[in-house]
Amino acid sequence: MLEKIKSTADFIRSKTSFNPEYGIVLGSGLGGLVQEVREEFSFEYSDIPNFPLSTVKGHGGKLILGTLAGKKVIAMQGRFHYYEGYSMQEVTFPIRVMIELGIRQLLLSNASGGMNPDYKVGDIVIIQDQINLMPSNPLIGKNEDELGPRFPDMSEAYESKSVQAAYEIASAAGYRVHKGVYAGVSGPCFETPAEYRFLRIIGADIVGMSTVPEVIVARHAGIPCFAISIVTDLGGFEHVEKISHEEVLRVANASEGKMTDVISQLLAKL
Ligand code: HPA
Repeated sequence: MLEKIKSTADFIRSKTSFNPEYGIVLGSGLGGLVQEVREEFSFEYSDIPNFPLSTVKGHGGKLILGTLAGKKVIAMQGRFHYYEGYSMQEVTFPIRVMIELGIRQLLLSNASGGMNPDYKVGDIVIIQDQINLMPSNPLIGKNEDELGPRFPDMSEAYESKSVQAAYEIASAAGYRVHKGVYAGVSGPCFETPAEYRFLRIIGADIVGMSTVPEVIVARHAGIPCFAISIVTDLGGFEHVEKISHEEVLRVANASEGKMTDVISQLLAKL
């Protein structure tokens, strides 16, 4: 794996001398932030050696290097999900490459289902902590000591300073915003009413099918993480509503501006 990471990073360096400081991963329906990036160089995923190929509608599949809010960023428009059939190592490979390229913080976005009764569709949740309910972990297997320790600490999975800063930015902008716990599940089914209730009982505020593996790999490497979620549906037990991927994308798209605003203002402060 080490050679693959290095050779992909070398490929990117052979095309551009731009040195990104912040890695950004944009989730379903949330790719619009890249329009704000002053682009230096971009790659289609299909042109990057060792990169998996995205299979889901609504994911652009582009890696963009450029400047946003005065900061040098490398942004993934579209991510890889475990439910698409990729291994955990494949899902997190681009994160390893961004780390090899020298990023000092990772910022992620996603769409989620809300279980907290105070949450409404379209709300912003600044992720404060996570629960890994995926059936695997990207660090399973022989540990590469060069990448990080065998038993990484997860006591601050999400950097508390960034959580607070983003919460204040969103509040000042007048957005509905919460700090919450994200449960990461494999998908691809949305949850049953009993599963949403279970997730609420175990302490999660929102649920989604991404982010958790990426954060684990970044923390393995000691990289601080930040993640922002848009609540696209409410997972209820008493009031059961049907959910579709189309509706998730529609709400994510409609809330994209708020998310782009918070990330840009946070980047400017970092
Ligand atoms: N469950 C899981 N993943 C999701 C949801 C959900 O309700 N909404 C958006 N992504």
